[in-house]
Amino acid sequence: MEKPVSLFKIGGSIITRKNSYRYFREKVASRIVNEILKFEGEKIIVHGGGSFGHVKALEYGIPGEITPDRLYGASLVHNDMIDLSNRVAGLLLSMDAKPYIFSTSSLMKEGTLDCKDPVAYMKKGLVPLLFGDTYISGNKVLIYSGDKIMLDLSKLLRPSIVVFLSDVDGIFTDDPKENPDAKLLPRVKHSEGIKAKGKDATGGMKLKLDTLLEVKRYSNKVYLINGKFPERMRKTESQEFKGTVIE
Ligand SMILES: Nc1ncnc2c1ncn2[C@@H]1O[C@H](COP(=O)(O)OP(=O)(O)O)[C@@H](O)[C@H]1O
Ligand SMILES: [Mg+2]
Repeated sequence: MEKPVSLFKIGGSIITRKNSYRYFREKVASRIVNEILKFEGEKIIVHGGGSFGHVKALEYGIPGEITPDRLYGASLVHNDMIDLSNRVAGLLLSMDAKPYIFSTSSLMKEGTLDCKDPVAYMKKGLVPLLFGDTYISGNKVLIYSGDKIMLDLSKLLRPSIVVFLSDVDGIFTDDPKENPDAKLLPRVKHSEGIKAKGKDATGGMKLKLDTLLEVKRYSNKVYLINGKFPERMRKTESQEFKGTVIE
């Protein structure tokens, strides 16, 4: 019998402080990773960039046409993302898990992500770790987001559960950080009537919501949960669950 596959996306917003360049929230990341490891079966972990990605991506105008300056930015962001990934992998190793980092830019083949190797490594018992990253295609410096990687992996693996951890309790009617009247939506079926402006280099919540709805086609269980309370991941079936279920 095939083992159940679980996919996790750790938002950059939750494991870094999004406005201070390269600030890693180690304790939060550690608690998240610890909860993820409680899931049975095979798993892949993807993480975002937060202040290891978005600060310099915005500063160097990425995405955009290739210029010497922008190439320097791509190099810098890629290096910082590898650093962040190393930190997450270090936490996993300290908990006796077997992370294996795959660099997104190395998996990019003509604009599509080739996930065959990460999947093969997962089947051997490793925990593939992927991350949103810059890459070069044609005459452009581009970004492949962690959320997009989640969609690619979902299509390929048809996972039994997909969890997105972010820095908010779930999807709200509007940005909860800007609108105090925004209401948490326990269930979301479509993006109509939801206000979700994108602020960072990968489109923020607007694009995430569209991606979540698409991921839902490939998995029965898709959730957006606050990474500050990672134990909520194990309560998705209970009455007291706090978060958003994608339907
Ligand atoms: N309707 C909404 N519901 C929830 N969050 C929203 C909404 N609109 C905008 N946001 C913002 O989206 C942010 C999460 O997106 P993002 O920073 O890209 O997180 P991640 O690092 O998980 O990808 C939240 O911090 C919140 O301020
Ligand atoms: Mg994001």
